[in-house]
Amino acid sequence: MAPQPTKADRFAFGLWTVGWPARDPFGDPTRPPLDPVESVHRLAELGAWGVTFHDDDLIPFGSDDATREKHIERFREALAETGIVVPTMTTNLFNHPVFKDGAFTSNDRSIRRYALRKVIRNLDLAASLGAQTYVFWGGREGSESDGAKDVRAALDRYREAIDTLAQYVIDRGYGIRFALEPKPNEPRGDILLPTIGHALGFISSLEHQEMVGLNPEVGHEQMAGLNFAHGIAQALWQGKLFHIDLNGQRGIKFDQDLVFGHGDLLNAFFLVDLLEGAGGGVPAYDGPRHFDYKPSRTEDINGVWVSAAANMSTYLLLKERAAAWRADPEVQQALADARVPELATPTLAPGESYSDLIADASAYEAFDVEAAGARGLGAVRINQLAVEHLLGAR
Ligand code: GCO
Ligand code: MN
Ligand code: MN
Repeated sequence: MAPQPTKADRFAFGLWTVGWPARDPFGDPTRPPLDPVESVHRLAELGAWGVTFHDDDLIPFGSDDATREKHIERFREALAETGIVVPTMTTNLFNHPVFKDGAFTSNDRSIRRYALRKVIRNLDLAASLGAQTYVFWGGREGSESDGAKDVRAALDRYREAIDTLAQYVIDRGYGIRFALEPKPNEPRGDILLPTIGHALGFISSLEHQEMVGLNPEVGHEQMAGLNFAHGIAQALWQGKLFHIDLNGQRGIKFDQDLVFGHGDLLNAFFLVDLLEGAGGGVPAYDGPRHFDYKPSRTEDINGVWVSAAANMSTYLLLKERAAAWRADPEVQQALADARVPELATPTLAPGESYSDLIADASAYEAFDVEAAGARGLGAVRINQLAVEHLLGAR
């Protein structure tokens, strides 16, 4: 029996996820558009806690002020009726042709100025809806021709944009934090800030770096062949995991945005273990468990809600399985045998200097390097115990 989510689990969905009508580069939509108000109600019934959105998901691009207000008002009513919150918002800086060469890093300065204004307008709405995080996914910031983009100048302009918007948020007292979302490619041939590591490096150059972190997405790191759980561990280690986009991806190919767990299930298991505190009782990440997936194009509207529920129950199952794995005495023994806990012990003793290390014959002259080299880790056993817990064999 799959576990039932509640608001306490803090599951959130983008309006653009369940609302995706499933148009792809080769085919027309297979589903009618969804009214955001209906999405809020359906997600609430399924046990979700929050919804997130791009400005244009709620307010069609180019709406006049009166129409804009009408859309916001209906949406606010749905939030009030369901108790659904808006923890996070973002800007659509990729759909309109004006953004075809980027928004903050378009070669055309007037487009960069327009993009900043579009974000500022939506930041005001984000603050009024109580959002605490604002996501920046620069899908169009990049190029197909290396000669057509001066990457160093583009990074200057990217930094200028984030610095300017951060100053705006500070001056308005909005208390919103920014989360940059890396992606290696698609829609651009190559996107700037392609991975967690690139984005962390960029953040360290920002004026208000304390208010800027990451919104990593499972599939985006995996599109680059990277280990998502490792990337998240480093983001946590640097205090930069401000938000997360959970989904599934099967290898280095186009962005699949599958249901969470429907890609690399074992990595998803270790990811949930990590986020939930690796057995220490205190979650390592306390933000929204946010799903950024697309209900496959094969699904009808019923399949949309089945897939939304699947994200949540998969997360809860993995959380339950990870806890059982941590509690299993055989696992604890295998972790001890592999000296996993020993890695937390500093390599030098308290107060020990490199001179003390050089003077320690047991560290080198008398160290049995052959015996240490011959010792097995037992890491395969650790993996297999995870597989057995995942498959319900334990
Ligand atoms: C993708 C991206 C987008 C962004 C979203 C927020 O799948 O390429 O995840 O979905 O997360 O648009 O701006
Ligand atoms: Mn994606
Ligand atoms: Mn995403």
